[in-house]
Amino acid sequence: MMRTMLAVAVLVFGVSVATAQDPIATRKALMKATGGQSSQGAKFMRGEEPFDLAKAKAIFAQFQKTAEEGKSLWPDNSKTGGETASLPAVWEKKADFDAKLAKFGADAKEAAAKVKDEASFKAAFPEVTRSCGGCHETYRARRS
Ligand code: HEC
Repeated sequence: MMRTMLAVAVLVFGVSVATAQDPIATRKALMKATGGQSSQGAKFMRGEEPFDLAKAKAIFAQFQKTAEEGKSLWPDNSKTGGETASLPAVWEKKADFDAKLAKFGADAKEAAAKVKDEASFKAAFPEVTRSCGGCHETYRARRS
C-alpha cells in the first residue's frame, strides 16, 4: 500500500515537473496529436476511409484531452523559446484564449456523446473543428 502510494506520488510529481519544465514542447506535441486526429476525421468527411465509430470516438477523446491538458500549458514563463508559434496575444487575452480552449473541449465532449454513426459524425465534426481555425487565427503564428 505504502509502496503504491509512493509510486503514484512519484508518477504525479514526475509528470508535473516535465510539464512545468517544458510546456512548449508538451503543448506542441499535444497539438500535433490533435492535428493527426483531425486529419483522420477529414478522411471520414471526404469518404477517403470507411467510417469507423471507434476511431471517431478517439478523435473526440483526443480533442477533450487537448482542451483539458492545454489549460496548464501556456504559463507566463513560456512566451518565447522552443520555436513556439504561440503569439503574444495568448497572454494578452488569456481569458479569451482559455475560453476558446474550454469551448473546444466542451464541443468535443458533446460530439463524443452525440456521434453514433457516419451521418451524425459528419454533422458534428465540422462544428467542433471550427474551433481550430477560430483559435489559430488569433493566437498562432502563420508559417512563413
Ligand atoms: C484555444 C486555441 C486552440 C485551439 C482550439 C486549437 N489550437 Fe492548435 N494551436 C494553438 C496554438 C496557440 C498553437 C501554437 C503552439 C506553440 O507552438 O506554442 C497551436 C499549434 C497547432 C499545431 C502545430 C503543432 C506543432 O507541431 O508545433 C497543429 C497541427 C494544431 N495546432 C492543430 C489543431 C487542430 C487540428 C485543432 C482543432 C481540432 C486545434 N489545433 C485547436 C491553439 C489552438
